[in-house]
Amino acid sequence: MMEKLIVHGGAPLKGRVTISGSKNSSLPILAATLLTGDVCTIRRVPDLSDTNYMTQILAELGAEVERASGVVVVEARKIKHVAPYDLVRKMRASICVLGPLTGRLRKATVSLPGGCVIGDRPVDLHLKGLEALGAQITVDGGDIHVDARKHFKGTTLNLMGKHGSTVLGTDNVMMAAVLAKGTTIIEGAAAEPEVEDLANFLIKMGAKIEGAGSNRIIIEGVKELHGAEHTVIPDRIEAGTFLCVGAMLSDGLTIRRCAPEHLTAVTETLRKCGFPMEITKDTITIHGNPDAKGFDLTTLCYPGFPTDMQAQFCALACAIQDTSTITETIFPQRFMHVAEMKRMGANIDLQGATARIRGGEHMKGAPVMASDLRASAALVLAAMLAEGKTEINRLYHIDRGYEHLDDKLAGLGAQLERAKV
Ligand code: UD1
Repeated sequence: MMEKLIVHGGAPLKGRVTISGSKNSSLPILAATLLTGDVCTIRRVPDLSDTNYMTQILAELGAEVERASGVVVVEARKIKHVAPYDLVRKMRASICVLGPLTGRLRKATVSLPGGCVIGDRPVDLHLKGLEALGAQITVDGGDIHVDARKHFKGTTLNLMGKHGSTVLGTDNVMMAAVLAKGTTIIEGAAAEPEVEDLANFLIKMGAKIEGAGSNRIIIEGVKELHGAEHTVIPDRIEAGTFLCVGAMLSDGLTIRRCAPEHLTAVTETLRKCGFPMEITKDTITIHGNPDAKGFDLTTLCYPGFPTDMQAQFCALACAIQDTSTITETIFPQRFMHVAEMKRMGANIDLQGATARIRGGEHMKGAPVMASDLRASAALVLAAMLAEGKTEINRLYHIDRGYEHLDDKLAGLGAQLERAKV
């Protein structure tokens, strides 16, 4: 059933919100349970359509999967090596079963994930990494076939691409290499906290990994892995999104159970703008500031400013009585939210991969279309800023990646409701 979100803008927000487990950690960690026939228990898995797709994929591949309130228990005793198009087409991140299937079964057939509205999203680096380990790779009829039965051995490889390192590519190569003989060194590895979280889970399963969280990961292959329990890290993008909400619309919003050390690029930008913040070990409290200054940000690989926060900062820039610029270097076409925000009265000039936003314009509610996950979240923020009613269509984009976003916002005083289309 298609749903839309109806937002009545202008409500002041206040209060506390609890951050969920990370979507981008949960997906590869769930895929990694395919690396053993033992039972694995993953906690704090957010209730999202993307994590549901992943558990469905695991079940279709032959694993037994049980899920109850954030805890997913997987036992992948006997699994198949084929993930067909019907299974993987709904979610691009399904590609992260490629590494574990290759590691465990030495062969994998995974359909190429389709295009994606945030631009051409290739998987060449994933394949280059597996090939370096000795796997033979063919792409045929839309499927990737990996055959690592004859040769599969640790080596030194580099995963740096023209837009920086690849998160899921690093995950895939790491998940394959933990069961390859010998030493693998991944140069140009993604250093995102989600990669480190996956490595920590693999280490609990018996893998030998050093350097995860840096650009050089060293893996000593082992014969087999065993079952393990793991709690995924807090979602830094959900946390950053609520920090934007707090900066734009609140006179005191506290996000709880977050990891402030993963959010420094975001909190430093907010602090430079002049939004007062108090940070503890696992909470951040932020206050609005009518005299906040504009910002100039460029998206970069971690620990730089995350591309997944770019659209939400575009909404924030609309609320600041100053000019801000945003340059996107990871996904240069990731600006679908701009046209929709302009329909609400935003003053944004987009030149190539740089948006120049003149904030403080009067924004008015309008019907808008969600295009991808983070762009949709940004539209919800813009709608809360705008006067009157905004209808956001294609709500399923938000349900892919934000656990109960509307309930959490309503708990802070936002005026919004879901409706059938
Ligand atoms: C992950 C995140 C996504 C985030 C992105 C960048 C998950 C489930 N998703 O996506 O939310 O926006 O990291 O932080 O964790 N590239 C290539 N060749 C490849 C792979 C990637 O050229 O083989 C390019 C991409 O087009 C992009 C850049 O590398 O320009 C980074 O992409 P990548 O880090 O791979 O993104 P994902 O891992 O798919």
